Amino acid sequence: MTMNAATSPIRLERLSYVVDSVRVLDDIDLRVQPGEIVGVMGRSGTGKTTLLRLIMGLIAPTAGRVYINGTDITGLDEPELDEVRIDMGMVFQGAALFDSMTVAENIALPLVEHRRRAGGDRARWVAELLEMVAMSGSEDRLPAQLSGGMRKRVGIARALALEPHIMLYDEPTAGLDPISAAAIDNLIQHLRERVGVTSIIVSHAVRSLRRVCDRAAVLHEGRFLALAPIVELETSSDAAVRQFLSGASEGPMTERGQQ
Ligand SMILES: Nc1ncnc2c1ncn2[C@@H]1O[C@H](COP(=O)(O)OP(=O)(O)OP(=O)(O)O)[C@@H](O)[C@H]1O
Ligand SMILES: [Mg+2]
Repeated sequence: MTMNAATSPIRLERLSYVVDSVRVLDDIDLRVQPGEIVGVMGRSGTGKTTLLRLIMGLIAPTAGRVYINGTDITGLDEPELDEVRIDMGMVFQGAALFDSMTVAENIALPLVEHRRRAGGDRARWVAELLEMVAMSGSEDRLPAQLSGGMRKRVGIARALALEPHIMLYDEPTAGLDPISAAAIDNLIQHLRERVGVTSIIVSHAVRSLRRVCDRAAVLHEGRFLALAPIVELETSSDAAVRQFLSGASEGPMTERGQQ
């Protein structure tokens, strides 16, 4: 495949996802620029995780297309999807670690699957990944022995194992103390600066998104209410966007405020 600098790492075209006759995502368009960090906000159950799963090719859209590095992934078979996914890391909302495996084994899983960095090199790389998420020396611990925030950071280390150029984060800082959260924010920016990683971050942490993202979107009733730099969203003429960013309980986003 030929790729040029203008190829968008992630492009969504009229993407829709319907499940149980609910239109979770409705005709979404998005073009993420190389190295861009895009935030996605939205109330619980609005389809943020679904959006990331579609981008990873874990579920198939009802309609529309997902292009990764210029390749339309809708309709690819599993081996083809695996190839595309090598360049993508996903940090799952609940970390999704294997409880019976140590931290090191969890992180090394993608390396084993793709036969990368055998022997001592693998152990060194796992140690380096743990250092990146401020968890040095945790190789032999089991997920059950870790706090929620620590599990999340192991999930990030695992997502980075194959050095992907695309990272999808599902609430990467939820449940973390402010200092650990800031460290994750810094890591996301560092990956962009050092390797040009392109990221989508699902998060409710408006302050953190303001620090990290180039643009942010508010997902509501299957659509992006807005997609712009956060500072612009905060002064948006759309009252629903402003309500979401300020966290007000009443307004156009909540039914009681509809009238
Ligand atoms: N496989 C499925 N079967 C049935 N409904 C589903 C399925 N996947 C998603 N949904 C529905 O799609 C909607 C969006 O779910 P999703 O998990 O994407 O929301 P979310 O924005 O990530 O929420 P949260 O902030 O709580 O994590 C929900 O109403 C959910 O019930
Ligand atoms: Mg979710």
